[in-house]
Parts: sequence; C-alpha cells; structure tokens
Amino acid sequence: MDKKVYIETYGCQMNVADSETVLSILKTKEFEPVVTIDNADVVILNTCSVRDNAEQKIWNRLDFLKGLKRRKKNLKVGIIGCMAQRTADKLLEHIAVDFVAGPDAYRSLPDLINETDIELKTHNTEFDIEETYSGIVQYKQSDKEISGFIPITRGCNNFCSYCIVPYTRGRERSSSYTDIIHEVKDLEEKGYKEVTLLGQNVNSYFYEDEYRKVDFPTLIQMVADAVPNMRIRFTTSHPKDISDDLIDTIAKYKNICNHIHLPVQSGSNKVLKLMNRKYTREWYLDRINKIKETIPNCGLSSDIFCGFSGEGEEEFQETLSLMQEVEYDSAFMFKYSVRPGTAAAKKLEDDVPEEVKVERLNRMIALQNETSLKSNKNDIGKTFEVLIEGFSKRSKEQLFGRTQQNKVVVFTAEGLSRGDIVFVEITEVSSATLKGKIVKP
Ligand code: SAH
Ligand code: SF4
Ligand code: F3S
Repeated sequence: MDKKVYIETYGCQMNVADSETVLSILKTKEFEPVVTIDNADVVILNTCSVRDNAEQKIWNRLDFLKGLKRRKKNLKVGIIGCMAQRTADKLLEHIAVDFVAGPDAYRSLPDLINETDIELKTHNTEFDIEETYSGIVQYKQSDKEISGFIPITRGCNNFCSYCIVPYTRGRERSSSYTDIIHEVKDLEEKGYKEVTLLGQNVNSYFYEDEYRKVDFPTLIQMVADAVPNMRIRFTTSHPKDISDDLIDTIAKYKNICNHIHLPVQSGSNKVLKLMNRKYTREWYLDRINKIKETIPNCGLSSDIFCGFSGEGEEEFQETLSLMQEVEYDSAFMFKYSVRPGTAAAKKLEDDVPEEVKVERLNRMIALQNETSLKSNKNDIGKTFEVLIEGFSKRSKEQLFGRTQQNKVVVFTAEGLSRGDIVFVEITEVSSATLKGKIVKP
C-alpha cells in the first residue's frame, strides 16, 4: 500500500513551489499525498532559515511531532528546505527527525524515506548546480487552483552580507526556456489563470542553448506570447538588474501584471554598502522614476528591514524618507536577525539593541500603513481589472480578487466564481483592502 505523505510549507513562495515538486517526485514512487496530518505515514516540514524566528517555529513544531510519534510508532518525520541545508546535523540530533534533505536533493527523497526502515536516520544535503527539477510537473493538491508558481532560477550569487539564502540554496542557475514554456502551457491547460515566475533574483535569468540566448525580458515576452489569456507575475527582482528593457516589456504587454516587487532593504547608502547590495539610493530612485514614467499605475512593493549593523537614527531616517519618496503600495518589513555563517555575522557587529530594532520597526510599519491608506484612497473612483480568487472570509455573498497591481478587492456579485476576470470600480478603502462594485469595462 502507498505510504501517505503530508507536507507543511514554511518560508517563501519558492518553498511553496518546491513542496509541489517534492509531492510530484514522491507520487511517482508510490507515496500518496494527503491534505491532513491525521492519517499520514510520513510528515515533511519544508523549512525556512531567513530569520531566527523562522527556525524557532520549526523547533517548536518538532516538539509537537515528538509527541505525535509517541502515539504513532511508525510515523516518519523529515525536514527539507533551507533549514535542512543550514543545520542538518543539529536537526538529525532531534529525536523526532528521521530524514533530512536539502533543496538540491529532492529527487533522492523516496530512497531516503525508504532507507529509514533499515537505518535509523538518513540525509542528503549535497548541492547540485545542475539541478533545476527539469521535467517534473508540480503536483497540485486541488484541481480548483487558478494561480501557480514556476521557479525559473534557483539559488543566488548575490551574497548580500546579511542573507543566508546563498548558503542554503547554492549557486544561481536558470531553467531552460523550453521547460518553462512547457510548464506554463500545462498550467493553462489545467485551467490556471495566473502564473508567477519565481527566483531569488528573477531578472538575472539567463539561459543559452545552441539556438539562442534568453535573458529575463526575452523570457517574459515568450511567456506572455505563449499564454495571452493568463496573467503573468514575477518575483523577486533585484534593483541592480532591473533594466529599461524589462520595464518597457512590462508596459508593452497587457497580460504582464503592472506590479513590481523591488526590495530596497535600506534607504541609506552607508547601510546599503555594508549590506553588499551593489546599488545606491540614487540608483534605486532612478529605477523607480523610470517605472513610474513608463508604466502608469504600476503597483510597487518592497522588502525593508531595520536595525542592520551600522544603522544609526540618521541612517534609519533615510529609510523612512525613501519610503515617503517612493510611496510603496505595500511592504514586507522586518528587523535584522543575524544569520550564522554570513559575511555580516563574521565581520560586522550586531550593534543595534533589540529594543531599538523593535521601536524602529514599529515606526516603519506605522509609516507604511499611512502610505498604503493614501495609495488606496487614490484608487477611489478608478476601475481595475480583477481576477476573482474566491469568497471573502467574512461573507459568502462577497467575492474577493486581486488587481494587476496586487491589491485585494472585495465586492458583491452573483453568478461569478474563482478564475473569472471582472472590472471593479473602487468605492471604499482601508489601508489593507479595497471595496468596490462591478462595472462594464
Ligand atoms: N531574494 C529576495 C528575497 C530574499 S529573503 C531579495 O533579494 O530581495 C526575503 C527578505 O527577507 C529580504 O528581502 C530581506 O528583506 C529579508 N531578510 C533577509 N535576510 C534577513 C535577515 N538576516 N534579517 C532580517 N531580514 C532579512
Ligand atoms: Fe539574499 Fe540578496 Fe540573494 Fe536576495 S539577492 S536571496 S537578499 S543574497
Ligand atoms: Fe526562507 Fe529559503 Fe525562501 S531561507 S525565504 S525558504 S529561499
């Protein structure tokens, strides 16, 4: 009988896509994906290491699984993903853990799991620079999904001094454009309406074969042409690689969403240098201006964190002033968490006290809430194309969806469902959501 496997995903969208790849690999080798933990024979946690609290969550979850294993003697527990790569030895010491696999080792998972019947614990954390999981079509838990993720690059070569990702994911590599087009077409055939192309740094995508050289602007055009009725998104773009060519391409194609997630991290040149981000505040603002000029109504979002080494009040003020100047529609905001093994951990002092980090984070969030509200208020009276994602949490009569700019809109409608595209005029807003009514385009 097939073993039932249940997977929990933590961290970024790359992990969401990877979990589907893992289920696809396991399904061909006589494992059966299940959607609840209750009757699982194998539980896998796909983990994240980006900040210390992400890892803490996994240690807590493992303590719960230790209890579960007492009641279910044959249950196997595995850890995969970034934390598996970063701290395999420590994880294997935990009594609940049976197997560990890093992000390049997922093809070996069926063997690793089966070997735990013979050996006490198994692991594979080898890097494989060739591994793009080419030829594996992601397993979908539900046939009602409308939005999918396709990794187009894996790994990262940027080595931002604070970041663990280059150590957990290895060197950057790009999937072949033929594989990507094939996967996008497959999603379209399955009824998907939207695809997000994923990478730590998508805009450094580059693939060369005997026929041609394909960079990111070329790839996204190929995708947009291949599935003209699907919405196309992409994340994450690195500011140093966001070219005029890419911005012009987004402007040109109706089905490439008018939204760019462009993490700035800090507004201070001194801090950006210590972070090894390879751009300046001025370069970043020039890119933002080019976007605003070329793509009217482009949604803009960012990742920003405070409390990095060398960030005094003056440097922090520069971050706030940059946020005011750009006026992001939304932002993910964090406080610095030292990651062992990174350049910052080795060479820089974590010199901002915890309470100052917390206080700065709160100020950053307060400012962003104001800016988000202002940006949303600006949408009142305007009409947006909305892809319906489902019923709103509060009421079964209300639907919700997303604009191209990636804002959530709630509205009342009958006879429509998930996957439909409608036009909605905005009537009311909060800092987090828009409300509106359906109108004719
Ligand atoms: N590849 C993407 C995102 C990687 S991780 C990029 O380059 O933008 C997602 C976000 O987590 C980062 O953008 C950064 O804002 C944050 N982050 C990464 N390392 C961190 C750390 N050590 N402490 C706090 N935040 C961190
Ligand atoms: Fe980390 Fe920088 Fe790579 Fe993003 S670009 S994953 S922040 S090293
Ligand atoms: Fe976390 Fe790894 Fe993604 S560290 S953010 S799961 S690439």
